[in-house]
Amino acid sequence: AREAKLDLVTKHIKHFPDFPSKGILFRDICPILKDPGALTAVIDLFEEHVRQTHPQVELIVGLDARGFLFGPLLAQRLGVGFVLVRKKGKLPGPTVSVAYKLEYGEAAVEVQEDAVAPGEKVLLIDDLLATGGTMYAACELMKKQNAEVMGCMVVIELKELNGVEKLKPNTLFSLVQY
Ligand code: PRP
Ligand code: ADE
Ligand code: MG
Repeated sequence: AREAKLDLVTKHIKHFPDFPSKGILFRDICPILKDPGALTAVIDLFEEHVRQTHPQVELIVGLDARGFLFGPLLAQRLGVGFVLVRKKGKLPGPTVSVAYKLEYGEAAVEVQEDAVAPGEKVLLIDDLLATGGTMYAACELMKKQNAEVMGCMVVIELKELNGVEKLKPNTLFSLVQY
């Protein structure tokens, strides 16, 4: 059943050469969202992983923007809350932020100051891990709030960029690898 679900997920990933710029092979998860069976398979696979590996999880933390597509569905399945890590300047009230380097320039991720309690056990989720810069910054943000990062999860891991190294000591669970 697990193999069939992974197969269904893989079949619903589209590949666009040279998007958004020349030399980038863009992995598009939009077809997964369009297919209820494929989307259910993604959430099933994440749920199975969490129940087996991190049953103590208290909060799912999703990354802006594509992490928001999967995170709330998984959180509901698990019966835990969902928290948004957003790109800088989008969240009202007191926030904490962590800056990180992009290929070109800088970006920052932000969370509301009261969103995560000290010691809370969190799992981070996004659609894709490339260099790992975004996910690492989100982990740092959680640690700044004294949350306990149990692990990171993505639908797609781009192996050649070695984001897993960048993420350390945080761990990664991915459904599909390229
Ligand atoms: C993409 C993707 C991941 C991130 C991975 O998001 O959804 O969040 O890049 O790259 P990294 O591992 O090298 O940091 P992007 O910032 O393009 O925007 P979006 O999610 O808002 O569409
Ligand atoms: N984010 C960073 N690299 C990406 C890729 N190759 N496809 C989709 N999203 C990405
Ligand atoms: Mg993203």
